[in-house]
Amino acid sequence: MARVLINFAHPALEKSRVHSQLLRVVKHIPGVTFNDLYEQYPDLDINVAREQQLLEQHDIIFMQHPFYWYSAPAIVKQWMDLVLEHGWAYGHKGKALTGKYFSNIISAGGSEHSYSLEGHHGHTIHDFLLPFIQTAKLCNMQYAAPFVLYGVHRQDLSDIQEDAAQLKQVLERLRDDKFDLTPLPGLANLNQLLQLPAQT
Ligand SMILES: Cc1cc2nc3c(=O)[nH]c(=O)nc-3n(C[C@H](O)[C@H](O)[C@H](O)COP(=O)(O)O)c2cc1C
Repeated sequence: MARVLINFAHPALEKSRVHSQLLRVVKHIPGVTFNDLYEQYPDLDINVAREQQLLEQHDIIFMQHPFYWYSAPAIVKQWMDLVLEHGWAYGHKGKALTGKYFSNIISAGGSEHSYSLEGHHGHTIHDFLLPFIQTAKLCNMQYAAPFVLYGVHRQDLSDIQEDAAQLKQVLERLRDDKFDLTPLPGLANLNQLLQLPAQT
């Protein structure tokens, strides 16, 4: 079984339509650890030792958050700045994260088409996720395909609940280790994992 960690960041969860529904599912999956960063650190005062220990204890690490200004809420940056230390996460002696998978679970207001070269935002979501992708590489991790929910403002509650059910399936399959994980970085969206044949 793979050990899956979700580092969750939403600065105004009480106003959330999307992540509040996703949490109803992801918080309760056996074998998946849920870590709410704003709940733990409302003043952004991150406990680095705790966060590093959590990373060491897991194989697949997700940052789950709404897409804000083509990136993530502020605490995600604070977490990266403080937790991914030189000599621990990267650098000559920094090997603590070697071989792990890293990715994002994100919701975006923009549609899938808007995140294309011809679309309103002029770039794919993968282009914008480059700091995460390259950070994973620098820390000797593989960046897996992100789980992306596009166009969330147009979704009604039942659409969001369907996405939540799909995310649950993806996380359970990753946890159960029934997949050859090597194609993961090549997928456009992690929900495509559900179309891959399971290993026997
Ligand atoms: C401060 C802020 C910045 C945002 N920036 C973006 C953005 O760059 N691209 C985008 O597609 N949506 C953007 N949005 C829309 C959010 O991604 C969307 O509201 C969120 O994913 C919905 O999830 P929630 O209901 O859990 O809050 C932004 C929203 C806020 C409040």
